[in-house]
Amino acid sequence: MRIDVITIFPDYFAPLELALLGKARSRGIVDVRVHDLRQWTYDVHRTVDDAPYGGGPGMLMKVEPWWQALTEVTGRGPVPAQDRTPETAPGHVIVPTPAGRVFTQAVAEELAAQPWLVFCCGRYEGIDARVAEAWADQELSIGDYVLSGGELAAMVLIDCIVRQLPGVLGDAESATQDSFVNGLLDCPHYTRPEAYEGQKVPPVLLSGNHADISRWRLKQALGRTWQRRPDLLEKRVLSDDERRLLEEFKQEMSKQELSGA
Ligand code: 6GU
Repeated sequence: MRIDVITIFPDYFAPLELALLGKARSRGIVDVRVHDLRQWTYDVHRTVDDAPYGGGPGMLMKVEPWWQALTEVTGRGPVPAQDRTPETAPGHVIVPTPAGRVFTQAVAEELAAQPWLVFCCGRYEGIDARVAEAWADQELSIGDYVLSGGELAAMVLIDCIVRQLPGVLGDAESATQDSFVNGLLDCPHYTRPEAYEGQKVPPVLLSGNHADISRWRLKQALGRTWQRRPDLLEKRVLSDDERRLLEEFKQEMSKQELSGA
């Protein structure tokens, strides 16, 4: 996969060298290129912002540097989203913004299938709307809170998308067992020692009985999701078996409460 990032703060992307993302790059799984938007300014002050039409607080990013940057980086002209086909539009253009569609694991899976992503990181009060109107395939938000710019959001999106790519995660299974992949939160995990400061590892995990362990894990995943994120359970149809496990979890919970544990 190729990823281009356009930003006035290229240094925000230094962590792309580290850990999993760094390894994905050095293995050639992903080719990330970070561009300074000010390369496409032509005045002495290298201006990228201006006051909004209609008044109001703050500054906006100007359309011209973005237009030039996107033309050069994608090697094409703008194509309105409704006219775009895979042939007319190499480079899937993403604008991170709190006004975008909310990013989820399902969106990450869709984007991981794209050969080429281009991230446009806005600052100030945002980017002149004509940039997204003419160029963006998607405007994406990473959640209902406001960041100071698109850079950290783009980092979150890139991290989540790149770890989906084949060959990035060592253990082929670890991507599919994560929270959210099956619409549930992950179960708790433990490693040695068996007991620490009076806290014991659940005995079933030491039993060696893989069927029991799988059932316990699914029960914990269902129970945790019910406790912490009931909204996720409402979106997911439970099988009869899952419904039974969740009932067991609830009964065990109320027993523990009665015994004061
Ligand atoms: Cl994508 N950008 C900014 N600036 N703030 C956000 C966001 C994006 N997603 C949530 N908050």
